[in-house]
Amino acid sequence: MVAPYFFPPKGLYLFLFFSFLLSCDGTDQKQAELSIPQRVNELMAKMTLKEKIGQMNQYNGFWNVTGPSPKDGNAKEKYDHLAKGLVGSMLNVRGAREVRAVQEVAVNQSRLGIPLIIGFDLIHGYQTISPIPLAESASWDLEAIQSSAALGAKEASAAGINWTFAPMVDITRDARWGRVMEGAGEDPYLGGVVAAARVKGFQGNDLSSPNSVAACAKHFAAYGFAESGRDYNTVDIGENTLHNVVLPPFKAAADAGVRTFMNAFNELNGIPATADKILQRDILKGEWGFDGFIVSDWGSLKELVDHGYARDKNHAGELGLNGGSDMDMESYIYLTELQSLLKDGLVTMSQIDDAVRRILTVKYELGLFDDPFRYCDTIREKEITGSPEIRAGALDMAKKSIVLLKNDDAVLPLKKEGQTVALIGPLAADKNSPLGNWRIAGENSSAISVLEGMLKYDGNTIIHEQGVKLVNAIPAFHQEVDINTTDKGGMKAAKNAAKNADVVVMVLGEYGFQSGEGRSRSKLDLPGFQQELLEEVYSVNKNIVLVLMNGRPLVLNWADEHLPAIVEAWHLGTESGNAITEVLYGDYNPSGKLPMSFPRSVGQMPLYYNYKNTGRPGAKGADAGSVFWSHYGDEKNTPLYPFGYGLSYTEFEYSDITLSKSELDNGTKIEASVTLTNIGKVKGKEVVQMYIKDHYASVTRPVRELKDFELVELEPGESKQIIFEITPETLQFYSANKKWESEPGTFSLFIGTNSNTIRSIDFKLK
Ligand code: NOJ
Repeated sequence: MVAPYFFPPKGLYLFLFFSFLLSCDGTDQKQAELSIPQRVNELMAKMTLKEKIGQMNQYNGFWNVTGPSPKDGNAKEKYDHLAKGLVGSMLNVRGAREVRAVQEVAVNQSRLGIPLIIGFDLIHGYQTISPIPLAESASWDLEAIQSSAALGAKEASAAGINWTFAPMVDITRDARWGRVMEGAGEDPYLGGVVAAARVKGFQGNDLSSPNSVAACAKHFAAYGFAESGRDYNTVDIGENTLHNVVLPPFKAAADAGVRTFMNAFNELNGIPATADKILQRDILKGEWGFDGFIVSDWGSLKELVDHGYARDKNHAGELGLNGGSDMDMESYIYLTELQSLLKDGLVTMSQIDDAVRRILTVKYELGLFDDPFRYCDTIREKEITGSPEIRAGALDMAKKSIVLLKNDDAVLPLKKEGQTVALIGPLAADKNSPLGNWRIAGENSSAISVLEGMLKYDGNTIIHEQGVKLVNAIPAFHQEVDINTTDKGGMKAAKNAAKNADVVVMVLGEYGFQSGEGRSRSKLDLPGFQQELLEEVYSVNKNIVLVLMNGRPLVLNWADEHLPAIVEAWHLGTESGNAITEVLYGDYNPSGKLPMSFPRSVGQMPLYYNYKNTGRPGAKGADAGSVFWSHYGDEKNTPLYPFGYGLSYTEFEYSDITLSKSELDNGTKIEASVTLTNIGKVKGKEVVQMYIKDHYASVTRPVRELKDFELVELEPGESKQIIFEITPETLQFYSANKKWESEPGTFSLFIGTNSNTIRSIDFKLK
């Protein structure tokens, strides 16, 4: 579809120049001396009701990119609305020239010239694609994650974008849900610190810097708990899970200063999130004191009717604004309904004013009123897009995101010389899948493939075979491909290649669009004929390194049982093949740890390490062998690979834990320490993880919860003492009193290499 952009008429530049001269009358100087709230008030005093409502209206750019456009071909109407000041924001308009064009209409043609805030799904990179957020979270490297977001913001802001719909901070425990790729996984603590790092990366220290963009914590709330992992599905969870698991990463984002929130498509306990007054008005804007604005999700106001919550679109507008949604993304409801709703007394002027004040405040903070075209410099865009700095950042992040799941007999790293390597699999030479799902501005097939990465190491002979081909799936939309489920034609050649190879590297997994929005799966195995290909190749050569590309945890039982080495390489973005081969050849020692449990069976979903004990955690003693405990008859309860798990090319040894004292009073702290030693032969990084179990409480607590971690790099033979501080705040949770507090009692503290660690020590809170 061709996007009908608007290009400025030539005379416009002349007009702008004279407007600039005219504006040098001291008005700008006076404006600059006022505080942002004063400037907002002055502006609002001049605005008509219609113009105020216009600020609450967000339009998609003129093409259909990240959602179904309800009114295709209405570019003319949108243009008129821009010129009349009836649009506060646009999304999916990108490129310095294109953004300038729409901004010029808003600024130069509308009565008050209020600039647009330009939104975009900068989820994992702009044109240079970084690893999917789930992969980045596997690095547990907060500095790297922050810097990755900052580089994304730099590239996107040079292309006119000043607001990203990220980070997605939805906790999820169900790998069937396609959007697990967009978040930080299953844990609220990790989710919270990653959310804060991303917010800081996007927004920088100063929102008005031309390199930063406003961030958006989404999807408020509980979208990740969609029943059966089916996207957009109903969510029904209790207060306990809502407050202790779902909300903490949102709170962390708010505390980190995130300027916007997006609500969610799902209903939560019978109320669609978009109209949820308790969530948006009471908790977020009330208790948490959030003073930015909330945007609806795409068409989610309109969907209140489909949910069966609103009678019609007029009613949806009423429920949406009363519920706390400040901006309407692509529902066309606020613009058409708010005036009559106000007249009928169903919404209030102060609600509208509050929403507009929030939106204008963020626009002032971004510096848009001082220079609406500050993000629209085509020369800067050219210099920054794909610059060496941004490519280097993407490579660095990609290497840090890789998780080594298995490495028996030190099969990895591969030898660099004299080997014949059979490189097999549909994703081995694929330059598209590694880009993952959210790469709207990324060029299709622009990633470095594993084959390209491998060929850079020229001491070995590489024989490449696809084995199972990729086929076109929905070519019109994002040039999607699928993994073949009908043609086994390539298997023979793959086996022949493997037969005479010293080592086989198989690159299997999910194609780039197999996860993401609307991409839930009911199965978690290797799609198509890939499992069959794996077993066929194994029948002729057992020395296989499996490299996985995927956007969610997969079921890998067979591979784990039979193969010597497995590398989790997610969808790593533009630099994918370079990162993977550096790891395969040992030029980079992997240190990633899983941010989600990997199941043994799809039937275990939802699966998470911080589960509750239940009244029947196991059948022991006289009951041993009984079926009357919480378990499956045909599968273990445990994951195949637990949360926090990941290996290295070196080995680490932990000492026992020591505590500075064993009883904690209010206002004091305990220091828990371990000594970590690199007992292997190469330098490596380890994520030292601390978990706490609260033995009994006014509401039941998980078997353990991550409370802190430290990423440590050690030379061979080097040791380091790691100290974690525990205060009564560390032990707080949302209690039966409906508030965050800690309760006296006994706690176990665990420190180790993943969530299964048994190294523990007890202490008491008085
Ligand atoms: C719908 C998605 O749920 C949301 O995350 C995204 O930001 C919007 N579409 C805009 O693309």
